[in-house]
Amino acid sequence: MDDTPKHAFLQRPPVILGIESSCDESAAALYGASGLMAHALYSQVDLHAGYGGVVPELASRDHIRKLLPLIERVRAEAGDPALTGIAYTRGPGLIGALLVGASVSAGLGMSLGVPVLGVHHMEGHLLSPLLEADPPAFPYVALLVSGGHTLLVAVEGLGRYRTLGRSLDDAVGEAFDKTAKILGLGYPGGPALAALAADGDPRAYDFPRPMRARPGLDFSFSGLKTAVMLTVKHSERSPAVDADIAASFQQAVVDTLVAKCARAIRATGIERLVVAGGVGANAALRAALARRAARDGFTVHFPRQAFCTDNAAMIALTGYLRRGDFRPGIAPAEAVARWPLEDLRPPEAAPIAYDRAGTAESF
Ligand code: KG4
Ligand code: ZN
Repeated sequence: MDDTPKHAFLQRPPVILGIESSCDESAAALYGASGLMAHALYSQVDLHAGYGGVVPELASRDHIRKLLPLIERVRAEAGDPALTGIAYTRGPGLIGALLVGASVSAGLGMSLGVPVLGVHHMEGHLLSPLLEADPPAFPYVALLVSGGHTLLVAVEGLGRYRTLGRSLDDAVGEAFDKTAKILGLGYPGGPALAALAADGDPRAYDFPRPMRARPGLDFSFSGLKTAVMLTVKHSERSPAVDADIAASFQQAVVDTLVAKCARAIRATGIERLVVAGGVGANAALRAALARRAARDGFTVHFPRQAFCTDNAAMIALTGYLRRGDFRPGIAPAEAVARWPLEDLRPPEAAPIAYDRAGTAESF
């Protein structure tokens, strides 16, 4: 049997450089046979704060400034290992921002003679719990809650994703951000609103729990946002009132998400829940899901906060798991603003298995 690897790059133990630039975070990370080797991130939050939201053109320009120094940093931190591949976020996201990561990856791949693979940002989020010490086994249900997405997904294996439910209007993170804006909090609104909510009474206002009573696993958050807006308009504002509104809003979101997650677990018979995306950093959501999991007898996995929000560790990991998809040769600097999760497939070729010391176990 000829077990010689076809491509020279497959002969070395894998070390994948991950690059993330889909929105307002520039990030780089290295993932190898021993796990995550290094990761670094630069958040553009201060750059966009004055505008109340991400300004795409400013985001692209800043990625150009920050990506290469971040890449140098993670390579130096990991002891400058030889790269075997570069994985970058190909989409979905802001097209200009994505193109910076795509171009940097294509250029670096060409100069180092290593292959480049464009990966899906949401797949990165879905796989992010695998970065932790006690990763869940497939299959699991993932609640993906970010600034742009609210999805319940059955993750049946690598590249095998079945969408169970989605938001019909605002994403959860968007609802947090818009509500924060209504209350006059700064950008980004989610963490600021969560901090204010900590001082309030979550039972002060009885906001709607959208779609909770309806069957199915879809979400809707625009009605809740409107209810908050009307309450704010008709209230005698004070710091205490604002804190109560924030806490009551957060409670309505948390109740809705917890109810739908529990329903998804029941409907699929899958006993593991994973929470991913920026809103997964929300402490009230984490606590409520942990309580419900203990009550209903399922397990819940959260990536650490830094891996809930955008990061390159999840992109490097996705590239590592998809190393069967790398092809030799020069890659085009390709990016896509829209990319349905359902279009993903399992990796083309089974990757070579390496033990943690980087020795090839099988071909
Ligand atoms: O996944 P992410 O970093 O970026 C993408 O949208 O891809 O998610 C960002 C979203 C923002 O809407 C932000 O306000 C929200 O996550 N977020 C939070 C918290 N931390 C971040 N929302 C509620 N509570 C938090 N602690
Ligand atoms: Zn994201």
